[in-house]
Amino acid sequence: MNNISLEKDGRVAIVKLERSAALNALNTETLEELTQLSLELDHDPSIGSIIITSSQPKVFCAGADIKEMSQKSHQEMVEEDYFGGWEVFASIRTPKIAAVSGFAFGGGCELAMMCDMIYASETALFGQPEIKLGVIPGIGGTQRLSRLVGKAKAMEMVLTGKSIDAYEAERIGLVVRVIPTDKLLAQVKVVAKQIASYSKQAILTAKELVHLTDQMNLKEGIMYERRLFHSLIGTQDQIEGMNAFIEKRSPNFIH
Ligand code: CAA
Repeated sequence: MNNISLEKDGRVAIVKLERSAALNALNTETLEELTQLSLELDHDPSIGSIIITSSQPKVFCAGADIKEMSQKSHQEMVEEDYFGGWEVFASIRTPKIAAVSGFAFGGGCELAMMCDMIYASETALFGQPEIKLGVIPGIGGTQRLSRLVGKAKAMEMVLTGKSIDAYEAERIGLVVRVIPTDKLLAQVKVVAKQIASYSKQAILTAKELVHLTDQMNLKEGIMYERRLFHSLIGTQDQIEGMNAFIEKRSPNFIH
């Protein structure tokens, strides 16, 4: 892998963007490496959560690779379905947690939003500056940002290219919490480890339901949640989790 690295800490995988000379700009090779690795991790029963971060605190990711894009014709983009591969990354079922420090611009902000949760360091900056390049967000920015922060804030960010700092991102619901820069990865690991310690089947089901709020009305969503709750009854982890509570001990989930 030329553009990313992998570390494992127990059941947590830590994937770092390592293309520092280009501020982790997302070229096709980075996309291919990240999707390939994420698919492998998603199918690995020993992994319960994935942290996506950068090896350098100055930048999470400065967006899609402008130099690569500038060389492509309209026809090439259509034929390749340029950016289409990102939907593979977005659909990874294992919880993905973005730990963002520094710039998260364009595709970098979109990469963070493809994760299930975003934690930000005090220096994080989020923006969709594509309009300044004569284009628009192309990896889900208009769609995910407006769903996460509402139309008013998304519209201003997308139409003006204005970036927002970590505290505003927390206030408007884009990030879970702002963490001191030097503690970001350690604190995100604590959350990732907690998630990875629970029954994977229950975690995947819960995550899927939270995402489905975008697509289902309340009545359908509540019915579907109830049915999926029923579907977990009888799993080894459900029996173990409830027995452990009753027997006043820690559960040993099999995942
Ligand atoms: N693509 C390719 N290369 C990039 C890049 C990008 N998105 N962002 C930065 N780089 C490169 C620069 O060209 C520079 O390379 P050289 O040393 O070879 O000149 C190197 O990274 C360092 O960048 P800067 O000198 O610009 O660093 P800085 O600290 O002065 O500024 C920055 C940092 C404000 C993030 C600035 O680099 C910047 O504005 N980058 C572009 C941000 C952007 O427009 N992102 C959106 C891209 S389009 C997109 O993402 C479309 C989409 O929806 C998917």
